[in-house]
Amino acid sequence: MARFTLPRDIYHGKGALEALKGLQGKKAVVCVGGSSMRKFGFLDKVIGYLEAAGMEVKTIEGIEPDPSVETVMKGAQVMQEFEPDWIVAMGGGSPIDAAKAMWIKYEYPETTFEDMCKVFGLPKLRKKARFCAIPSTSGTATEVTAFAVITDYAKGIKYPLADFEITPDIAIVDPDLAETMPKKLVAHTGMDAMTHAVEAYVSTAHTNYTDPLAIFAIKMIRRDLEASYQGDMEKRSAMHDAQCLAGMSFTNALLGIVHSMAHKTGAAFADLGAHIIHGAANAMYLPKVIAFNAKNAEARKRYGEIADYLNLGGANDEEKTALLIRELRKMNEALNIPQCIKNYGLDSLPCEQGFVPEEVFKAKLHDIAVNAVADACTLSNPRKPTVEEMEKLLLCCYYDTEVDF
Ligand SMILES: NC(=O)c1ccc[n+]([C@@H]2O[C@H](COP(=O)([O-])OP(=O)(O)OC[C@H]3O[C@@H](n4cnc5c(N)ncnc54)[C@H](O)[C@@H]3O)[C@@H](O)[C@H]2O)c1
Ligand SMILES: [Zn+2]
Repeated sequence: MARFTLPRDIYHGKGALEALKGLQGKKAVVCVGGSSMRKFGFLDKVIGYLEAAGMEVKTIEGIEPDPSVETVMKGAQVMQEFEPDWIVAMGGGSPIDAAKAMWIKYEYPETTFEDMCKVFGLPKLRKKARFCAIPSTSGTATEVTAFAVITDYAKGIKYPLADFEITPDIAIVDPDLAETMPKKLVAHTGMDAMTHAVEAYVSTAHTNYTDPLAIFAIKMIRRDLEASYQGDMEKRSAMHDAQCLAGMSFTNALLGIVHSMAHKTGAAFADLGAHIIHGAANAMYLPKVIAFNAKNAEARKRYGEIADYLNLGGANDEEKTALLIRELRKMNEALNIPQCIKNYGLDSLPCEQGFVPEEVFKAKLHDIAVNAVADACTLSNPRKPTVEEMEKLLLCCYYDTEVDF
């Protein structure tokens, strides 16, 4: 038996934020990140709509990018004191994910972070509050997913929480919020969405229910991301939908080793002054992983289907896969994303020698490979890598060399 779970309602299109006026409840807590939502006036709008719905409103502001366990615990404490019946989380993946974890702790104050990390092991939520998510970036699709990524900075590891219990009740996908994204954020989150769709399409857990969402999202992202990056706001709006379709697919079909590798390399070099940003990591690794997975005949056939759907040409699945890889690399180039870690600068832009020196990468390689193989996303990848193969693959991602194994 397979399960397909999504939010009960997805409001989308310009002005969808107004749907908040229709929520029924007494108290709402609004969770947001640094300052962009306040600065651009969206936070005030949200508070206004909730008050119009007759609710008392409290805010939790300042949730940091890649949120920590401490932030989650502090926020849950605020919720326990205020006792909201709605949790409204708005912003990028970071504040929404943090709010999901706060929700668990609010409903079950005895829960520890370790308890939350048990995959598909959460107790029933919604005894105290329901959850509404409003994305302001076009990538993670956390507004429709069963996932939340929380970082344990003491261990230096990102933990994906996974359970359909944390799939929001309501998602509001209003493109107005995406208009204020700076270019680099558009590029990174857009390629994150592309990776979600491609990994979901070839995942071992894909179904007839997830395939159409994934393949249509791929088509939209390839068609619209570049123009959105260049400032076309109609395409920006289409991208906001496309990332959500990709999310609807991958929350049910799961992901693959591009994400395993991105999770384990993301914060691995933080002591050198930067993270390898999630979307940029995915963009660099995806073409390499496609070459690796394509040694599996079923995966190769499915990459061929994607290439056909994009009208890329090619006489057989091998040629089609090569054309798909070329297309994704062309997208990286157009979006000013490096093709490999060696060329990944401190500012995430391409450069001759990036912020991760060769020796440092090689010194950490084995541990990263072990952790990546053990990541939950590896389970649904179409080809199961050994630690040795993962090391080789990561080296190809460092030097931008060909994957021929
Ligand atoms: N839950 C999931 O299913 C899922 C999936 C993929 C990734 N993630 C996680 O999500 C996090 C990344 O989320 P993200 O890429 O959305 O970025 P983010 O939430 O970390 O935000 C990045 C920056 O962009 C700013 N920002 C956000 N929206 C803006 C806007 N409209 N205008 C101007 N600035 C804006 C924020 O203030 C922040 O400084 C990572 O921790 C990643 O691991 C979660
Ligand atoms: Zn992702």
